[in-house]
Amino acid sequence: MKIFITGCCGFIGFNFANFLAKANKKLHVVGIDNFSDYYSVSYKKKRLKELVQNRNFKFYKIDINQNNKLIKLYKKYHFNYVFHFAAQAGVRYSLINPRSYIENNISGFFNILNLSIKFKVARLFYASSSSAYGELNKFPLKENYSLKPKNIYGLSKKINEEMVNVLLQKNKTQCIGLRFFTVYGEWGRPDMFMMKYLNATYNKSKVFYLNNYGNHFRDFTYIGDVCKILKKLIYSKLKYKHSIINICSNKPLKLTKIIKKIDNLTLNKPKIRKRSLQKADILKTHGDNSLVKKNTGIKKFTDISIGLKNTVEWFIRNKDRIKF
Ligand SMILES: NC(=O)c1ccc[n+]([C@@H]2O[C@H](COP(=O)([O-])OP(=O)(O)OC[C@H]3O[C@@H](n4cnc5c(N)ncnc54)[C@H](O)[C@@H]3O)[C@@H](O)[C@H]2O)c1
Repeated sequence: MKIFITGCCGFIGFNFANFLAKANKKLHVVGIDNFSDYYSVSYKKKRLKELVQNRNFKFYKIDINQNNKLIKLYKKYHFNYVFHFAAQAGVRYSLINPRSYIENNISGFFNILNLSIKFKVARLFYASSSSAYGELNKFPLKENYSLKPKNIYGLSKKINEEMVNVLLQKNKTQCIGLRFFTVYGEWGRPDMFMMKYLNATYNKSKVFYLNNYGNHFRDFTYIGDVCKILKKLIYSKLKYKHSIINICSNKPLKLTKIIKKIDNLTLNKPKIRKRSLQKADILKTHGDNSLVKKNTGIKKFTDISIGLKNTVEWFIRNKDRIKF
């Protein structure tokens, strides 16, 4: 079986590609990435160094906007399943460089969707986001709620979901939109809260800016759970041609509470500067996860104290060899 993973040097793409390649040596995992410089390219290359140790993994440096190169790849491999994670991520950056979201998340997404349909891929899984919901206040957020994205990032994900509805129609491919909620864990993203906090904890020249005085709530979801869920979804029975599934733990936690837990693990503290709510920020995310539980049979998610312990220990082991 051949599995194609875009954005394989990113946080989720790397962890999942590594997990799959190790879980089943008979699988052929093909990954692409363009090494976007949104955050440390050397960090992405470190992830790739780990990945290529798997003999059943093959990497190509390709941008999802290079349609001709993608066509060659689809022709060569005839993928059974595609996991599309390559994107311009980040909410705050969408205020600075909105064009990047249009080019990568909308035009680039179109290429992957179009080719997956043309080459009759059995299932295309693509990353959507909790940001597509916007600032709703009916919790937990359910997949059938109407979407009111507050920023270009969330809008790009909403457009992806709508593009699938329009293009899929009578084709063979099944599409699954994965609405991820604040994924954290080993090899995490340096632009996100947890890695930024750990980075500032161990690098005293850095200041950690605590937005909204730490009063945000986030539905933190451990990367280990995400990998297990995605693998289960490959084989799960899915009724619809297009399913949308929240990927979340259904346990929102206040940032101040998480910070206390991290400090207890590191026995340390960074320099913190508190500030008010930032533009484009959402106060609370809390998703309903009954659908993902039903479709995967996974009933228990990793407890935050275990996920945090794994993350902190990984960070301490790697902080001197990785430039985040
Ligand atoms: N991490 C989260 O908590 C979270 C939450 C919601 C949604 N998501 C979505 O999940 C997906 C993966 O997120 P992540 O956290 O791993 O982000 P990431 O930035 O770590 O990974 C994305 C990878 O895609 C690559 N990439 C970007 N543009 C590309 C292009 N044009 N061609 C080829 N490669 C390209 C980047 O170099 C990067 O390695 C994204 O679509 C993101 O929007 C993530």
